Amino acid sequence: MQTIMTGAGVAVPAPPAVLAVSGESPARARAAAAALSTELCGQKKGTELLLVVGETDAWLEADGTEVRVSFDSATMHHRRKGGQNELLGRAVGVKADRKPRVWDATGGMGRDAFVLADLGCEVTLNERVPVLAWLLNEAIAAASVSTHEQVRDAAERMLVVAGDSCQSAVPSDTVLYLDPMFPERKKAAAVKKEAAMLQRLTGGDDDAEQLWAWAWAQPVERIVVKRPLRAPVLGAQRPSHSLSGKSVRFDVYVRKKQLDSIGQAEV
Ligand SMILES: C[S@@+](CC[C@H](N)C(=O)[O-])C[C@H]1O[C@@H](n2cnc3c(N)ncnc32)[C@H](O)[C@@H]1O
Repeated sequence: MQTIMTGAGVAVPAPPAVLAVSGESPARARAAAAALSTELCGQKKGTELLLVVGETDAWLEADGTEVRVSFDSATMHHRRKGGQNELLGRAVGVKADRKPRVWDATGGMGRDAFVLADLGCEVTLNERVPVLAWLLNEAIAAASVSTHEQVRDAAERMLVVAGDSCQSAVPSDTVLYLDPMFPERKKAAAVKKEAAMLQRLTGGDDDAEQLWAWAWAQPVERIVVKRPLRAPVLGAQRPSHSLSGKSVRFDVYVRKKQLDSIGQAEV
């Protein structure tokens, strides 16, 4: 598998080739291939992972599995009402009169970021896999012309930063959110396929401890880490508290007192 180096010196898989949807103008596909510095291919080849691009839509495809990044899909509309959203909002510190800015250092498919934007937070999504950053920007553009006003409003609060988070300096008035990949065990077959594709695209986030070290060095008062329910904590620090759902847990690190007493330079 070909890889590219991120600015932080980590190898991630190179962007997939781009395939234009049959019968549609390939202009957008050409533009996508150019933006991602990858090749345009004429047809599907075996089990190769591809970015399929049409006039108004784009998705990842491999071996019959399609993965889309969309904030206006039925799944996302359903998710907006889900209990886990409430937990994520509480972990980040969302209140009726408080909508913190969030730096999502592991943008991925943007689902958690969209939930937070939908709750009223301004969210920066940092994503180092170029094709995911490209799809996130496409999904935000599509959401910004949604027929649902709330989806349009949330899209306005989302901004993508392509690149390795470990190269970013996070503003101190921000909540830092991390959700690095973790090997999944008990999942429905469809979700497993999607997780496998994400694993293939990202390389698996083996350097999550490095991401944690970077996060801990940022001058923020609150860090939230999403983990599978029974997974060990990320890094050596103990969370201030955790919020657990059915399958995931949010570890919350509140550091106001530490920042006040030891000074930001030492954190
Ligand atoms: C489990 S996914 C995140 C899913 C996301 N929370 C969502 O709701 O869709 C982890 C993502 O973090 C990205 N990632 C991991 N380490 C990163 C880093 N140091 N900088 C930027 N992105 C990173 C991976 O490329 C992957 O897309």
